[in-house]
Amino acid sequence: MTTHYRITLLPGDGIGPEIMEVAVAVLTEIGRQLDLTFDCTSALMGGCAIDETGNPLPDETLAQCRNSDAVLLAAIGGEKWDRLPNDQRPERGLLGLRAGLGLFANLRPAQILPQLVDASSLKPEVVEGVDIMVVRELTGGIYFGQPKGIFAAETGEKRGFNTMVYTDAEIDRIGRVAFETAQKRRGQLCSVDKANVLDVSQFWRDRITALAPAYPDVELSHLYVDNAAMQLVRWPQQFDTIVTGNLFGDILSDAAAMLTGSIGMLPSASLGAAGPGVFEPVHGSAPDIAGQDKANPMAQVLSVAMMLRYGLNQPDAADRIEQAVNRVLDQGDRTGDMMSPGMNLVGCKAMGESLLKALQELA
Ligand code: IPM
Ligand code: MG
Repeated sequence: MTTHYRITLLPGDGIGPEIMEVAVAVLTEIGRQLDLTFDCTSALMGGCAIDETGNPLPDETLAQCRNSDAVLLAAIGGEKWDRLPNDQRPERGLLGLRAGLGLFANLRPAQILPQLVDASSLKPEVVEGVDIMVVRELTGGIYFGQPKGIFAAETGEKRGFNTMVYTDAEIDRIGRVAFETAQKRRGQLCSVDKANVLDVSQFWRDRITALAPAYPDVELSHLYVDNAAMQLVRWPQQFDTIVTGNLFGDILSDAAAMLTGSIGMLPSASLGAAGPGVFEPVHGSAPDIAGQDKANPMAQVLSVAMMLRYGLNQPDAADRIEQAVNRVLDQGDRTGDMMSPGMNLVGCKAMGESLLKALQELA
């Protein structure tokens, strides 16, 4: 029996459309192999949506996303829109999508593939075997806290401010996702905060600690965010699952990504309590290489795998895509971002063709 899914595609800006094209080809091929059909419809989000409609997240786009089984997003933003006021920028569309779909849990795996150990900027012995899952809280904290703004005080002085706030319920729900994630991995959870300075972080630490007895098979530890940043580049193998708030998670997930050789390899999943998840690469829209057939489509393709695994409960399809990625790397194909001596430099399109060929061989 054919299983049918409705997927909303948000190709976005910069390299987004190029890598999305590869991802859709991969999705179609895996569907053909495993008797799944994907009804993919594109919608506008980000800079392209600003250009067309004046709004980075048009209402129709959000409605269409809500109506799908999963949302596959590429990347948004670019210099072109950087001078717009904060609340009109492409990034605002992404935040609106996260809030609008209630996607409070962001899973960002950073796993080094043995083929890419030499592409990391760190020494091979430091990054070998790195396999980290960052669980980032995505709809709270300083990204969404009120009050915020830039105001003129009566004294004539101007003040810009944001509020870092977490409620007990917000911490508990992301905490539970993190403990459950750690249970399915190596059973170690490190919670990252700034409890030595911030009240909101002390509260975070207290709530996470209070959840721990319900997960006796998980070993919980805590780190301050500055130390966590240092430990990530000093001894990343010590980490299994990391849970942290929105801002710290944004920063640490980029650092963790770089351990793996290229941010161009890393997918992510954003999940809510119910409804469709959003699956997207960790990297940005790379406007400097857009339209030049230089982009690495792997993170987008691996986001398809995460969509199949976490969003659509099709683990076999996800496994097969991940195997195809491995096979292509084994063959030595590399886009510029992960190139190392002796490897075979390819563009986005050629990488896509290699992936399709590998998938066909695996069928
Ligand atoms: C990310 C990005 C976004 C964030 C930006 C584009 C709003 O950096 O997904 O990590 O800060 O969350
Ligand atoms: Mg980021």
